[in-house]
Amino acid sequence: SWTTGNVIEEQVAAIREQVGDKRAICGLSGGVDSAVAAALVARAIGDQLTCVYVDHGLMRKGETEQVEKDFVAATGVKLVVVDAEERFLTALKGVSEPEEKRKIIGREFIRVFEQAQAEIIADEGPAVEFLVQGTLYPDVVESGGGTGTANIKSHHNVGGLPEDLEFQLIEPLRKLFKDEVRMVGQELGLPEEIVQRQPFPGPGLGIRIVGEVTKERLDLLRDADAIAREELTAAGLDRDIWQCPVVLLADVRSVGVQGDGRTYGHPIVLRPVSSEDAMTADWSRLPYDVLARISTRITNEVRDVNRVVLDVTSKPPGTIEWE
Ligand code: XMP
Repeated sequence: SWTTGNVIEEQVAAIREQVGDKRAICGLSGGVDSAVAAALVARAIGDQLTCVYVDHGLMRKGETEQVEKDFVAATGVKLVVVDAEERFLTALKGVSEPEEKRKIIGREFIRVFEQAQAEIIADEGPAVEFLVQGTLYPDVVESGGGTGTANIKSHHNVGGLPEDLEFQLIEPLRKLFKDEVRMVGQELGLPEEIVQRQPFPGPGLGIRIVGEVTKERLDLLRDADAIAREELTAAGLDRDIWQCPVVLLADVRSVGVQGDGRTYGHPIVLRPVSSEDAMTADWSRLPYDVLARISTRITNEVRDVNRVVLDVTSKPPGTIEWE
């Protein structure tokens, strides 16, 4: 019968057999799937696995630390963290258009990741022949069966990688659904904050700032987002909502009053949604007292924010994210 214990045992044996004395690499995104896949492979082959985490500076408060400290503590995995904040912020300078932001972030991400990969491959030690991916069963079905090998193309501007380098894929979660993946992660001892994490977009807070992305704005949004998450968790609502993007309207200002003074600050948008698969969504009817606490705290604690608004649009016509 199906138990997480059986799944782990079977996969560990299969991965050991597949990898032998070679090495594997795995990219961590901070999300559930890559974390559980990496933890499972680490259980099987220990330090023959190297994980790579690209810190693009667009993560929420505490997320990078969660990967750097808690994930490593729980799994003992060998982790390379690339601090690429400068690089991403420089590339994003002056850019406000959503699709352009997404393209830049995606492009820089691949460059940084491939460079880290090339360095790992070039160091001494057994050949790196395997790439770990957190592909789930629904992903396999959607893409019509899946492939067997990944063709990682080297870009002109990324030195060090052989052309058309082929990795064999390790996809230990291919037969599992999301809730099963969470159970396996829990059994592997991963922290709750990682295992129960709600969806978060790859481009991170970069697409939750309407306007140009700057360090100052990111810090502001991180503070507002942390307050919203804290209050939603405290109210026991994490399982009731699909996710709650917090968006900074950096190009909008409105007049307010605080203490004796007039303010002219930015609005923060709360976008709590309920959904089954993110294809369609409805806005979550959060309790007014929870909304009130979030609003009061954000306007009191986050400088330059003098208004909190609630997005009451379903998807369609609105998307979940604002960009
Ligand atoms: P939208 O905004 O299209 O979002 O309604 C649907 C779901 O996808 C997430 N999302 C992303 N996830 N990379 C990701 O990994 C992305 O570029 C991306 N954009 C949106 C979004 O958070 C929601 O869960």
